[in-house]
Amino acid sequence: FNITKFKNDLIDWFEMEQRILPWREDQDPYKVWVSEIMLQQTKVDTVIPYFQRFISKFPTVEKLAYADEQEVLKAWEGLGYYSRARNLQHAVREVAEAYNGKVPDNPEQLAALKGVGPYTKGAILSIAYDIPEPAVDGNVMRVLSRVLRIEEDIAKPRSRRIFEAAVQALISHENPSSFNQGLMELGALICTPKSPSCMLCPVQTHCKAFRDGVETELPIKSKA
Ligand code: ADE
Repeated sequence: FNITKFKNDLIDWFEMEQRILPWREDQDPYKVWVSEIMLQQTKVDTVIPYFQRFISKFPTVEKLAYADEQEVLKAWEGLGYYSRARNLQHAVREVAEAYNGKVPDNPEQLAALKGVGPYTKGAILSIAYDIPEPAVDGNVMRVLSRVLRIEEDIAKPRSRRIFEAAVQALISHENPSSFNQGLMELGALICTPKSPSCMLCPVQTHCKAFRDGVETELPIKSKA
């Protein structure tokens, strides 16, 4: 497994083929944060117009922090899981008060914010700040389970650590943002759950599951 070539192939593909998405227009950590919270339980196509409206209404940490909660919930209407919006505003208020409106760039301060779990923390650090930290969600676990032939049960909460360790070992220190987003984008566009498009895959030559013909057997995901 040629780690350097894998990184380059993934990043080059992402930089050529990535979808144009409103939260990719800049690296504003606040926008990255809002988008990642919205994307946690909601599909990209649904999120796009909500994200645009939300950012128009609340363009900065301060605007969201000092907005009326009912206004925020109204802007979230239709996305569901309203605790996401309440937690986000609560956390953004803390950022406004404790950090002068600057989203923290350190893991401990981020992890202490309401609604910011390991995935969101890693997404903000890598995408907004280009800090080499893993951001492992279901898509990323699927991609890595195939590329590296990791046969851990992804339904088990403990498995995320295994995948985070894999990302730590592979992540580009030159371009953590494109590396992590490349894994996400590959999972969304090519390395899909049911019939992955291996013939179009930029990292096919690195993929152990493709080599062994087991790509549709992975990831392993127990029901219970
Ligand atoms: N899913 C989760 N995070 C994403 C992102 N930043 N872009 C596209 N899809 C995603």
